[in-house]
Amino acid sequence: MNKEEFKIRVAEGIPEELPAPKPYDYRLNHAPKRKDILNSSEKILAIKNALRYFPVKFHSVLAVEFARELQNYGRIYMYRFKPDYEIKARSFDDFPHRTISAAAIMLMISNNLDKAVAQHPDELITYGGNGAVFQNWAQYRLTMKYLSEMTDEQTLVMYSGHPMGLFPSHKDSPRMVVTNGMVVPNYSTQDHWEKFNAMGVSQYGQMTAGSYMYIGPQGIVHGTTITILNAARKISKKGETLKGKLFVSSGLGGMSGAQPKAAGIAGVISLVAEINPKAIETRRSQGWVDEVFSDTGKLIERVKRAVSAREITSIAYEGNIVELWEKLADEDIYVDLGSDQTSLHNPWAGGYYPAGLSFEESNRMMSEEPDKFREAVRKSLRRQVEAINRHTKRGTYFFDYGNAFLLEASRAGGDILNRDGEFRYPSYVQDIMGPMCFDYGFGPFRWVCCSNDPADLKVTDTIAAETLASLIEKSPERIKQQMADNIHWIKEAAKNKLVVGSQARILYADAEGRTAIANAFNKAIEKGEISAPVVIGRDHHDVSGTDSPYRETSNIYDGSKFTADMAVHNVIGDSFRGATWVSLHNGGGVGWGEVINGGFGMVLDGTSSTENKILSMLNWDVNNGIARRSWARNDGAIFTLKREMERTPGLNITVPNIADDDLIEEALKRI
Ligand SMILES: NC(=O)c1ccc[n+]([C@@H]2O[C@H](COP(=O)([O-])OP(=O)(O)OC[C@H]3O[C@@H](n4cnc5c(N)ncnc54)[C@H](O)[C@@H]3O)[C@@H](O)[C@H]2O)c1
Repeated sequence: MNKEEFKIRVAEGIPEELPAPKPYDYRLNHAPKRKDILNSSEKILAIKNALRYFPVKFHSVLAVEFARELQNYGRIYMYRFKPDYEIKARSFDDFPHRTISAAAIMLMISNNLDKAVAQHPDELITYGGNGAVFQNWAQYRLTMKYLSEMTDEQTLVMYSGHPMGLFPSHKDSPRMVVTNGMVVPNYSTQDHWEKFNAMGVSQYGQMTAGSYMYIGPQGIVHGTTITILNAARKISKKGETLKGKLFVSSGLGGMSGAQPKAAGIAGVISLVAEINPKAIETRRSQGWVDEVFSDTGKLIERVKRAVSAREITSIAYEGNIVELWEKLADEDIYVDLGSDQTSLHNPWAGGYYPAGLSFEESNRMMSEEPDKFREAVRKSLRRQVEAINRHTKRGTYFFDYGNAFLLEASRAGGDILNRDGEFRYPSYVQDIMGPMCFDYGFGPFRWVCCSNDPADLKVTDTIAAETLASLIEKSPERIKQQMADNIHWIKEAAKNKLVVGSQARILYADAEGRTAIANAFNKAIEKGEISAPVVIGRDHHDVSGTDSPYRETSNIYDGSKFTADMAVHNVIGDSFRGATWVSLHNGGGVGWGEVINGGFGMVLDGTSSTENKILSMLNWDVNNGIARRSWARNDGAIFTLKREMERTPGLNITVPNIADDDLIEEALKRI
């Protein structure tokens, strides 16, 4: 297909003629069959809803087909309407468009659905098992059509994958406003999601799936490297090297598979249990895992050798994490750092495999005997906690990695709570990311080159490294380590060969760093040193973007961690300060109903009006969270806020007065 034909196809929308039915592509990784949750009248509604997208002349054929899809897959994906062209990131100019912003969004959407990037491309799922870009192929087609027609004075409104349409707006407003999974709070259980999604009225957008900001494995490798590095620093004595510390965890799946690669970059030995041989093979063939063992005797012997020689290697154990923790305790092997990355945000449907059952037996039991399976999961979690407790008594530093391990283990009755009823172990945000990164404004700043040209990415890497290198000279002592880590990362980034899909990069920076890098890119675009516009954005897993009481906001201790004002304000504020698109999501990472998060994308086009937007929006996008974290009395955030107020004209934030605990206790005694 040549470029002109491609443009015509992308702008086509719902075709005039019915395309031929598509055979089920067995080469692709497909989403599991979803729960059969609708009653008969709801099934009728689901089919009727799906038919809304098509002219009545197609209904008799499609009604049967959609009924069959609902029965076979638990969802109506409209497979027949998946386009025949290859969906992937291309140069923005290849997409039909009237505004550069729309072309950039098309690039980002296409990347999220690329079969080399997406987890279940035919079901429009980018990552995390259920992180959807759209609910069905009609939504994809219509969205691309709207984007191809959109002008700089219109805004496309997206309701959970459904393009409501183009509304007149103005050139400084976002070109796209996205919500995913937003529901009235009392209707936000896992089963509500299953039901609304099956009816075609809501979707789980994860964080960067439904907001078109996914950049493949690079994002998670960077975040995991920073986490492991800082966790190792936390437990190290002054002057002690991190090299050769032992990190034990589980999961070699979508995101968890980054652990061995990241541990290697951070300079620690990793030992990761994975029950699914296919997942191990993927990571081994990529070179992210060095060695694989299924025999525990040989495994233990190898681990002992690696530890005594401080030999940095990544080892996979093909088996259950519970058995691994038990074996390591029995063998008296000292583990420095421990975590877990089974998919416990989804414990009953394949996220967690209980000890004592084979992989196949678990898969059978979860669909045929779900109650028995639930009990097996709970029992296994209690056993896992017991084994982990044996290690932590000897000094292992264990942290929850945002997968709801502590939550589910406590729900299962595991010995995981302390006397105050709090979790015995911290979440990685409570101890590491929160106080070391988020409270200082450091978070996942990312960018994508709209030319899709690796040469542009190389230029941006150099600009980013030079910008941070000039800032670190004047940085306060407290943030120098984060700056240095990220300068090192960006200098090494190309060597780590983590680009899959779009020409993208990520690093952690604070408000000053993000603004300086974005401005430098904008100038380089103006001068032609970068050949085309650049999209900037971020993961939602950030300073201000996410309210998630057991993850991003778990280090908020003023009682407000269950509120979501910050995440909602963030999106509203970004939208009138210059974002090209904004998105607000229910769910992401830890599960539906457990988190509200939002993000943005901004197209840098080399103009001076964009320079103003960068300054205004990035400042808000970081300092909103700094203000909230500071108000919650977080020491790092108070420090950062004061510095930001000195730096930024017009920033004038309420700073907390810190009360004396003894004084309050005394007061209570006196009444
Ligand atoms: N906070 C973060 O930045 C962050 C980062 C990465 C992952 N996470 C969370 O971690 C979890 C994992 O994410 P993912 O994308 O890798 O999911 P995934 O489902 O692709 O991978 C999880 C892996 O764990 C394996 N597994 C399950 N039970 C096991 C057991 N008992 N023993 C050994 N292996 C077992 C599965 O076979 C699977 O391959 C999710 O809950 C995710 O939200 C959070």
